[in-house]
Amino acid sequence: MGQRLAGKVALISGGASGLGEAQAILYAQEGACVMIGDLQEELGASVVEKIIAAGGQAAFTRLDVTDLASWHAAVSLTVATFGKLTNLVNNAGIFHPGGVQTETTAGWDRMVAINQTGVFYGMKAAAPELLKAGNAAIVNISSLYGLIGSPDAISYHASKAAVRVMGKGAALEFAKQGIRVNTIFPGQIRTPILGDITPEQDAAIKASIPMGLVGDPMDIANGSLFLASDEARYITGAELWIDGGWYAGC
Ligand SMILES: NC(=O)c1ccc[n+]([C@@H]2O[C@H](COP(=O)([O-])OP(=O)(O)OC[C@H]3O[C@@H](n4cnc5c(N)ncnc54)[C@H](O)[C@@H]3O)[C@@H](O)[C@H]2O)c1
Repeated sequence: MGQRLAGKVALISGGASGLGEAQAILYAQEGACVMIGDLQEELGASVVEKIIAAGGQAAFTRLDVTDLASWHAAVSLTVATFGKLTNLVNNAGIFHPGGVQTETTAGWDRMVAINQTGVFYGMKAAAPELLKAGNAAIVNISSLYGLIGSPDAISYHASKAAVRVMGKGAALEFAKQGIRVNTIFPGQIRTPILGDITPEQDAAIKASIPMGLVGDPMDIANGSLFLASDEARYITGAELWIDGGWYAGC
């Protein structure tokens, strides 16, 4: 067990799977108490079991990031369970393909509700407790697709680009108030979400990765850990691309 997040209490949305699971495990390994918020109750409970079996502290709450009341309940439970809230990771997200001509209004609304409004609600619900705790940090998970375009992912691009600029706005809002806000832009990382992309998208992404490798969830978790820790105390409003060099070639 490390100590890089000793004394921290983190709420991680989408922590039952993929990048959220990796961040929950690593945060707990480094001394944080972790509240996993997700719709997937069984998977979330199994991540909690793994963390506790390894000697860490964690709990699960059912969280729907599209519902502000659900966020308020998750924040309250975190504080009731672990005494405070110092870190928020807005990680929950979905992907589905669809361009201007094929995306539906329902598809657009769902993408924006989860990927974009979910991040706003998370910051809104957590802010009072983060301000109270002081020395707090938010990590928002965007995507390389929040920075660059592709022909068949219009609502995903829109939602992830919004996360990028919301992070900068929130960083400025809280700069003098003890909350740092930073954004991570994953490239292509091996998680269940990759099952939702088309074979054409998959091939195009792979061809764009200079290192020639798909990333591992721990590659994202390591960057998130740094931004969440006091090692990053002078970093806010920043963008961290973890993408095998993909963005360098754009
Ligand atoms: N894996 C990649 O290549 C990649 C690349 C760029 C960005 N991302 C982003 O990383 C984040 C994590 O994705 P992942 O790859 O781990 O995918 P994943 O599908 O493994 O995990 C996403 C998690 O979010 C949860 N979730 C979905 N809707 C929710 C809701 N309404 N309320 C609460 N939880 C909800 C899911 O249940 C799931 O556990 C997402 O925001 C995704 O857009 C992933």
